[in-house]
Amino acid sequence: MARVGRDAENVLLHGLRKLEYRGYDSAGLALRNGHGVEVFKREGEISRLVSHVGREKPVAEIGIGHTRWSTHGPPTDENAHPHTDCTGEIAVVHNGIIENHGALRRQLEKTGHEFESDTDTEVIPHLIENGIAAGHSPEEAFESTVELLSGSYAIAMIHRGEKTVYAARRGSPLVLGIDESALFLASDVPAFLEFTDRVVYIEDEQLVRISASGYTITERGDEIADQPVVRVEWNGEAAEKGGYDHYMRKEIDEQPSAIRQIVGSHAAADELLDIDPAILDGVSEIQFVACGTSYHAALYGSFLLESRGIPASTYLASEYALHNCSIGENTLVVAVTQSGETADTLAAIDAAKRAGGRTLAVTNVVGSTAARTCDEALYIRAGPEIGVAATKTFSSQVVCLSLFAAQLTGDRSSALADALASLPGDIQRVLDRSKSRKIAARYRDREAFFFIGRGAGYPVALEGALKMKEISYEHAEGFAAGELKHGPLALVTPNTVVFAVFTGHNDDKLLNNVTEVKTRGGTVVAVVDTANEAVLEQANDVLEIPETHPDVAGLLANVQLQLVSYHAANLLGRPIDKPRNLAKSVTVE
Ligand code: G6P
Repeated sequence: MARVGRDAENVLLHGLRKLEYRGYDSAGLALRNGHGVEVFKREGEISRLVSHVGREKPVAEIGIGHTRWSTHGPPTDENAHPHTDCTGEIAVVHNGIIENHGALRRQLEKTGHEFESDTDTEVIPHLIENGIAAGHSPEEAFESTVELLSGSYAIAMIHRGEKTVYAARRGSPLVLGIDESALFLASDVPAFLEFTDRVVYIEDEQLVRISASGYTITERGDEIADQPVVRVEWNGEAAEKGGYDHYMRKEIDEQPSAIRQIVGSHAAADELLDIDPAILDGVSEIQFVACGTSYHAALYGSFLLESRGIPASTYLASEYALHNCSIGENTLVVAVTQSGETADTLAAIDAAKRAGGRTLAVTNVVGSTAARTCDEALYIRAGPEIGVAATKTFSSQVVCLSLFAAQLTGDRSSALADALASLPGDIQRVLDRSKSRKIAARYRDREAFFFIGRGAGYPVALEGALKMKEISYEHAEGFAAGELKHGPLALVTPNTVVFAVFTGHNDDKLLNNVTEVKTRGGTVVAVVDTANEAVLEQANDVLEIPETHPDVAGLLANVQLQLVSYHAANLLGRPIDKPRNLAKSVTVE
């Protein structure tokens, strides 16, 4: 993040806190004042940096800051950004990975440069230093350095001699915020949303310069005068905790309103979705690409399409290019991504485009890279999600994909439409009556947690296990229930808890799997509607969901599982919003 305007240190620290969900193992600031460039860095969370800066009277008008998710070198004070050159006059922050840093570093070391960190980033200030030593201006040196870098980056640089921040982007997000009296650059809008909602999205290969007199954007030497200034829909309050202990809990509770928002904003008279219908012309096959929770939402969507006769396949985005998938003229590649910035997903979109595919982004972030790169964007309109573990955006993604399936197949069956219309109320009932806290307390000391399901219950089982491992650090795995007997059953002991997700898709067979678990001494918690008496008889414990359409039941079950993981993590005292080693937006491949 970078800031030009009064009180830079406080504004930067505030902005870094808002960006902490992107990475939080160390943080730092570089401030330009009358004497030069002052650098503060600390391993650990931003609160440690705040005490380190510890200044009562802000003095800087220009600065850059960074919160890190380590790729090269462990989280230490030295490896935290900003990084400086040998003279200490240049400071740089960087997101992404400089892939040729090894060769560049060897060259720089040979010519006498001394490095203080293990990071790939540190080559950048030393290269700029070389440019300035060769007689170039800081701007020219910055530009020529960027040309030497391969990999992905959003970089910001300050130099002691100028009241200017220089920045460049390739493959990592960078957004400019415009306030009356200040300018900001950041990886994401919440960093400065409190001050302004007017933004310019910086494109790949563009360079930006911000100073007290304004900003300029250039691309390959040409000034771009007409890059649009847009207003973001989110407000600062939506990105606050609002009295909750954790963002995750707030976001779980926001699911009814998030879903009302989609159904309300997309349900125009003829089209279910607010997208250009041309993107769907003649489409007969869908390939989904996604990562993490979004991958599970895509699997759910794939199931809905296939059960309506449309061939659909789902790929982990990081594997997609390796599969060399054949893309026909009637294939639509759908990238499901909350942030719209996940590097693996962006790479899969590129692969699809290179193969001549039509692309659609299903994303939460207007103006994100995925939204801008794909031919069309479908917005899930869930509002900002700050907790690293995705919750409300999974539900909103699945609801969007249900509408998408209905639009593509022309299937507006009233049963499904009715179930979607009552979904917000049904989720509210789950939230109000859930016994998840008791279940979490009862079983939190068990050795392993398995999650099983069939049909739409299968991606929900995967998602249930992912939530549990992400935030509680307990051993958790999700399986297609039928696969249990092909291996995982060997792990079931009286110390195992198996959550069985009943959605109405092959419930009888799932019940067989439940009895297999019980015969081996395992405990079964069924997530089921209470009309299903056979299940109630077998299960050791039950998490109830209201009766609904089988294609929607998985969403209700998922809310119960979100709550179980939340309570388990809370009882275990885990840092729920910022689990160790993870980040919300993973902008490296
Ligand atoms: C990270 C996050 C996950 C998220 C995944 C995909 O791993 O920790 O919560 O599901 O990225 O992110 P996306 O923004 O593409 O949905």
